[in-house]
Amino acid sequence: MIHEQEQQQLIDNFSMTYGQDPDHLFFAPGRVNLIGEHTDYNGGFVFPAALTMGTYLAVKQTNDQTLHLVSANFNQQITCSINDLSYRKDDDWGNYPKGVLDFFYKQGLEFTGLKLYFYGNLPHGAGLSSSASIEMVTAFMATSLTGANYSKPELARACQQVENHYIGVNSGLMDQFAIGMGKQDHALFLNTHSLAYEHVPLHLGNYSLVITNSNKRRGLADSKYNERRSECEQGLSDLQASGLELTTLSDLSLEALSVNKDLFRSETIANRVAHVVRENDRVKRAVLLLKEGDLEGFGQLMADSHRSLAIDYEVTGAELDALFDIQIGAPGCIGTRMTGAGFGGCTISLVDQKSIDAFTSYVVPIYMKQTGLEPDFYVSTAGTGVSELSLNTERK
Ligand code: GLA
Repeated sequence: MIHEQEQQQLIDNFSMTYGQDPDHLFFAPGRVNLIGEHTDYNGGFVFPAALTMGTYLAVKQTNDQTLHLVSANFNQQITCSINDLSYRKDDDWGNYPKGVLDFFYKQGLEFTGLKLYFYGNLPHGAGLSSSASIEMVTAFMATSLTGANYSKPELARACQQVENHYIGVNSGLMDQFAIGMGKQDHALFLNTHSLAYEHVPLHLGNYSLVITNSNKRRGLADSKYNERRSECEQGLSDLQASGLELTTLSDLSLEALSVNKDLFRSETIANRVAHVVRENDRVKRAVLLLKEGDLEGFGQLMADSHRSLAIDYEVTGAELDALFDIQIGAPGCIGTRMTGAGFGGCTISLVDQKSIDAFTSYVVPIYMKQTGLEPDFYVSTAGTGVSELSLNTERK
């Protein structure tokens, strides 16, 4: 059964660390985005799915005011007072759970001390939202234990605030929303402006979604991400200054884009806006094609999305572009693209199930020769959103 092995391991690890058993277990998935990249902070459309890999959290409430943070994935253990959860650079990964607890503390939630133990099986820093997964599992835990009434979209919004104001990355809502609202075997078609969403069955026929980790570290990712976001804001203000009544870039239609393409202060800004407008259009078409069972058509839109992210948005980089070029010609592959913020991380590919071995054996040597890096592969299925897990696994 899914999670069973990890649950048992987590309980054992918690007991070894703290000398006590945990009271509760929680899980939040990571996410992979099928199409709709760098649209979510522009009020646009996205189409992610929650994964079955993610972050596990075991918890015990105490009667003191101390917060203990331990993770199986990081050597560093953090202890602080629940009354002082301010950001400290030295706390590194611990700033994610601390930021979330700080947010809810300031909202008036009353915590006692907490002993927390995290374990994640997502590759770290690979663009599969390991950070948002830590945030969401912490938010769900904190609100569940205190009986606070927050919907999952509200938790997602809260974690986005933490990311923007506490961590300092100006990210959109996609990751946290998909992690909250994911549904098994479905992708999530989300309008990030209205927050209207639809779960779309992932009927992939003989195809599977294969995630390839480029294993290129995402250096500079946060500052480049914030730079792209501010370029989009400049694009919007250029359009508004010319009298166009737009609230977000996603209010701009394809037709209006081509009529107004000379209004921008620079070619770079025009290119960024063109990506956002065309990517929104691709997401809507991709969802329709998936519903019609046109997987080849869906795959072509994935490839178009990658090219636009490479040429107009400039967030791919040499390694993701190398993977794209190799995978687009690999056996069984009918579509591929980078997924997530870019600047390293993963691609997602639509691959004929019977060709998956041929696909990976084709990609590895060419990619290694070109980049010196060895890729990792995960065949991905869509999992459910954040939840509490049962503590009743049989002790062995
Ligand atoms: C990161 C951000 C998301 C989104 C993607 C790009 O994952 O956290 O909000 O902007 O990049 O689509």
